[in-house]
Amino acid sequence: MVTAAAPADSAAAPQVNPGRVLKVGPLKPSLTQTLADRYSALDLPMDDARTEFLAEYGATVTAAVTSGRTGVDADLMAALPNLRAIVNFGVGYDTTDVDAATARGIGVSNTPEVLDDCVADTAVGLLIDTLRGFAAADRYVRAGRWVGEGNFPLTRKVSGARVGILGLGRIGSAIARRLDGFGCVISYHNRNAVAGSAYRYVSTLVELARDVDVLVVAAAGGAGTRGLVGRDVLEALGPNGYLINVARGSVVDEDALVEMLRAGALAGAGLDVFVDEPRVPEALLHLDNVVLLPHVGSGTVETRADMESLTLTNLDEFLSAGTLTTPVVQVRQEGR
Ligand code: 8YV
Repeated sequence: MVTAAAPADSAAAPQVNPGRVLKVGPLKPSLTQTLADRYSALDLPMDDARTEFLAEYGATVTAAVTSGRTGVDADLMAALPNLRAIVNFGVGYDTTDVDAATARGIGVSNTPEVLDDCVADTAVGLLIDTLRGFAAADRYVRAGRWVGEGNFPLTRKVSGARVGILGLGRIGSAIARRLDGFGCVISYHNRNAVAGSAYRYVSTLVELARDVDVLVVAAAGGAGTRGLVGRDVLEALGPNGYLINVARGSVVDEDALVEMLRAGALAGAGLDVFVDEPRVPEALLHLDNVVLLPHVGSGTVETRADMESLTLTNLDEFLSAGTLTTPVVQVRQEGR
């Protein structure tokens, strides 16, 4: 097995996993640089060169570093027979086949908590923009329509609105805390009620959608939540209801959403995530009651630096101790 260069700042640490580090997919430039300089990481080709590359280097790799954008699927795991850890930059790991990793004893880590504030800030910003129409009003001013057509149409009040949160986890709770400050009436739906939560639990998503003015999606992506916000839920939200999504596009039936927004069957939507990023359904580009963001939820200098640092902490712990710091699935230890 080829031995990777030891991390410069932990040269004395024993390497319990001496194989090579593989970068899978595009990553933040500074993280890419560090992986190359400090870990002599290999870079998985994303084109036809991949097969030959894997035949030559696949067996040398013990750790893969990726992001929610790319992930590691079961085929790639099979081509990396000595892979022991998948280190994911980002809290969402739905692009990695966690079941396949678990079956192979491969650990998977993510970057929880450090991005809660920024994603929650984004959700609240999107909610305010969607209800108050700030982005549309900005376009109105720039197009000279204030002068030509007079005042901008009236919008909807945020303070005191009834807000339903799908997924009262760390990020959902951070959104709820912020909206408390606006006097919003918060209720939520999870698979199970959160013990000790001050917010009202609603046992079905359709019922939650029927009860609120705004539904905020903060649930994890993946097979378990695919299409959870279906047409029935959107119909329950209704023509006066708004949808905000900062989670994953896959959680919402995007076709139904687009169709209902076009038909006026929903009041509006604020979306940071889409099914087929970076492609956004063409019809949405022409709707003024929709705010569209290019998946920027965690995208601040501070938070991305914290995510990068936690990614490297996981990688270093794996290389020196064989375990992950913030595991979704811990590395299976030999003999267990
Ligand atoms: C990042 C995210 O854009 O952490 C997540 O799950 O969706 C975002 O914070 C993403 O991880 C970058 O790959």
